[in-house]
Amino acid sequence: MKSRIHVIFVCKECGADTPKWAGQCPSCGRWNTLAEKSAPRSSGRAGGEPRRLTDFSSAVVPLVSLKASEVSRRPTGMGEFDRILGGGLVPGSLVLLGGPPGIGKSTLMLQAANRLAAPDFPVLYISGEESPEQVRGRSVRLGAENPSLLFASETDLEKILDAVREAKPRALVVDSVQTMHKSALPGGPGSVAQIRECAAELLHLAKGEGLGVFLLGHVTKEGDLAGPRVLEHMVDTVLYFETEREDVHRVLRAVKNRFGPTNEIGVFEMTGRGLDEVTNPSALFLGEREGAAPAGTSVLAALEGTRPLMVEIQALVARTAFGMPRRQVSGVDYNRAVLLIAVLDRRCGFSLESQDVYVKATGGIDVREPASDLAVCAAVASAAADKPLPARTVWLGEVGLGGELRSVPQVSERLAEAAKLGFQRAFVPASATRGRTGPAGMEVVGVGHLADALNRAGLRS
Ligand code: TYD
Ligand code: MG
Repeated sequence: MKSRIHVIFVCKECGADTPKWAGQCPSCGRWNTLAEKSAPRSSGRAGGEPRRLTDFSSAVVPLVSLKASEVSRRPTGMGEFDRILGGGLVPGSLVLLGGPPGIGKSTLMLQAANRLAAPDFPVLYISGEESPEQVRGRSVRLGAENPSLLFASETDLEKILDAVREAKPRALVVDSVQTMHKSALPGGPGSVAQIRECAAELLHLAKGEGLGVFLLGHVTKEGDLAGPRVLEHMVDTVLYFETEREDVHRVLRAVKNRFGPTNEIGVFEMTGRGLDEVTNPSALFLGEREGAAPAGTSVLAALEGTRPLMVEIQALVARTAFGMPRRQVSGVDYNRAVLLIAVLDRRCGFSLESQDVYVKATGGIDVREPASDLAVCAAVASAAADKPLPARTVWLGEVGLGGELRSVPQVSERLAEAAKLGFQRAFVPASATRGRTGPAGMEVVGVGHLADALNRAGLRS
């Protein structure tokens, strides 16, 4: 009789499995990451039940005859967090919160769990990273004193499941998935097999009991996403918590959400008493703009998800001391910035080929949309001319290789937000002004070409 166990090779990085050993993982292409593992044969009847992620099974009926499920949400009361979740925690959903160590995942979840818990909605926080005393220390600091917030330090998955059966919470926080393990499985905590299996069990629990589960996971800066990445397809919602180095501001981003929007961001500030919500991030990303802005700064009316956000772009132009001119860029796309510098040089007469150019989006935000082109060009041109741009002005538009301006999505929303923040003028592509009036109190200047826009802003090469 054939053995029911066979050997497969599992990549430690991406979790892909393959029947044959190879030096390079056929899935992610990394080297020396395949490790041997025994696996039950995947014949359904023989041996144990094959693992399924969810227990859905139903009769075949016309789809239109079915009643759509109403998603009822439980808001945490932290507005920025709820918006990312799509309005609140959905019962029976599994939310993965990833981020580098030390960014504030435990802090955020402890605050959210404290707000979420209620006598009819107990929340259980499990930490496999810190002792009860440590977590209590943090909760004192945060003022998290909700008696319906339950806690246990535990790393054994079976014991966690027991604790859930006993305490019957409505929401569960598991901090972190890398510390959990199931003793029946080979491999230590943090191995791909353990992470997957633990997450699958928790998913089962979430769906079976209608329990909202938050799973915390570490992601390292080097992009080693082994842990959380292998879970992305299994969970309902994937959130990443990020920051610029040494910045007190934290940006929470939804990269997947079965119950809400993606590309939304939530902004928090780390303080001595935990994370504060930043409800008006535009003010934050604009930096300290007291008085007239210096040369080399412009303001972009950006869009993060569905939310308009004003971001300050700064540029510095300095003579190249020797050799190749430098282009250093942070917070905006490097290749786009280099291309825009070339357009300024060739199409608008700014001679930048012997100049070092530095470009930066302030506030630790990453602006990737083409709509930021015009603001980047305006900042660089202003720096090159050493002349400030007009005050209270926002810039918006994609710049083509010929220097022509192209329209961008959701111009009205962006301008409305800018007007709310006291901006009085906007430079936008001419095509975006057709048939449209700007918000009250704002002069909207439609321009066809980059050179024209810079001219009208008083910059001449
Ligand atoms: P933590 O939530 O432990 O991060 P993670 O779980 O993502 O590893 O937060 C770590 C950092 O936050 C730590 O450097 C201390 C800082 N911090 C504050 O500045 N203020 C606070 O109130 C708390 C609780 C933490
Ligand atoms: Mg932590």
